Amino acid sequence: MDREQEAIELLKKYNQNHIVNLLKKLEGVEKQELLDQIDRIDFQQIMELYDNTKKEIEIKENKIESIGYLDKAKLSKEQREEFNQLGEEIIRSGKYAVVTMAGGQGTRLGHDGPKGTFKLDVYGKGKYLFEILKDNLAEANEKYDTVIPWYIMTSKENNKATVDFLEKHNYFGYPKEAVTIFTQSELPLVDTEGKLLISKDMKIREASDGNGGTYSSLRASGSLADMKNKGIKWVFIGGVDNVLLKMADVTLLGMAIDKDVQIASKSVVKANPHEKVGVFCKMNGHPKVIEYAELPENMAEEVDENGELKYGESHIMCNLYTIDAIEKASKEPLIYHSAFKKNSYIDEEGKEVIPQEPNSYKFESFIFDAFEFFDDIAILRGKREDDFAPVKNKEGVDSPRTAKELYEKYWNRQNKKN
Ligand code: UTP
Repeated sequence: MDREQEAIELLKKYNQNHIVNLLKKLEGVEKQELLDQIDRIDFQQIMELYDNTKKEIEIKENKIESIGYLDKAKLSKEQREEFNQLGEEIIRSGKYAVVTMAGGQGTRLGHDGPKGTFKLDVYGKGKYLFEILKDNLAEANEKYDTVIPWYIMTSKENNKATVDFLEKHNYFGYPKEAVTIFTQSELPLVDTEGKLLISKDMKIREASDGNGGTYSSLRASGSLADMKNKGIKWVFIGGVDNVLLKMADVTLLGMAIDKDVQIASKSVVKANPHEKVGVFCKMNGHPKVIEYAELPENMAEEVDENGELKYGESHIMCNLYTIDAIEKASKEPLIYHSAFKKNSYIDEEGKEVIPQEPNSYKFESFIFDAFEFFDDIAILRGKREDDFAPVKNKEGVDSPRTAKELYEKYWNRQNKKN
């Protein structure tokens, strides 16, 4: 059987006759590219994920407990200095790298372009989200007399736009040789009948497979090997959209070293018991972030003997790993969650359809689902006003307006101190 015939058999087996029709219409390079893509896609996996969207989520018997943390503001001067010194040593000696996850679609913000290219209206002139991240790294470089290698994860969809933007802005002055851009893995988008969407360029439409893809993509892209060559021992992984993200917090790093753990994370306390954020807990003895929808109401409101929420430490995408932890996580399969989203596609007549309502499933793994592969995690509670100002929604909570306000207040306080 020739290659095309094999592909047709496969597509028919999985009920993808519209793609058979597309394949028959294409010629030359376009046909070859579609055949390559069909070879690469794991149809069995996609159909299983699609079938799961029809099933009730199985609630397993899980033992959920609260998890310990240290409050940065309550550390003694001695302890803080001890942590800072441990952390500083690692950064000064060039054993620290930073990863920015910038492969998301940013659908809620609705900005035309990768989220990092969004300009936040701060201090009149405005600053791009990538520029704000760069400022934070440059500050650490100056303080610790080093150049921190910066790895930026894009998606196939936004890679070109990201690279062009960073080139055009000359990486905002960050040493270009210290920046590595790598692309994350993708999965096809599937409609409500289990049919794969077709993209404008006459291929199967795929989208980034969630920020949990960071670990395996670091390995597959060669970035993990590159880190090892550079002698990196600790890796920070953070999001692109928190304008108060501290990517080189020596207290967090020192605490992780002191506690001899493989992973650590900065949290902020929940704004109220029902804030829609994932919180840290221990599930069946392992660290875990439990989504707000999965946390029973009585647990969401439960307080400890000091009147603090027992499940109050929110995950803010501010995570730290040993290089071995990244390697381990990169080899473990993560579960996929499905999100029902609006995605445009090409119909059987070759016309583009731009849906007004969600029409298809996107499958995503989450970065924090890897925590349960480890026995322990060190959590440092930061402060919302110092550490967390996300740009998620176009308006309202976690929007450019709230982020601008928090950013300017923070920097006004810092400038007053100096
Ligand atoms: P979010 O889950 O907030 O998603 O990503 P998003 O794509 O930015 O926005 P919406 O949900 O479409 O509105 C949190 C972080 O994870 C990254 C994002 O770029 C952001 O830094 N991310 C998300 C990836 O790198 N890849 C993905 O596939 C998804």
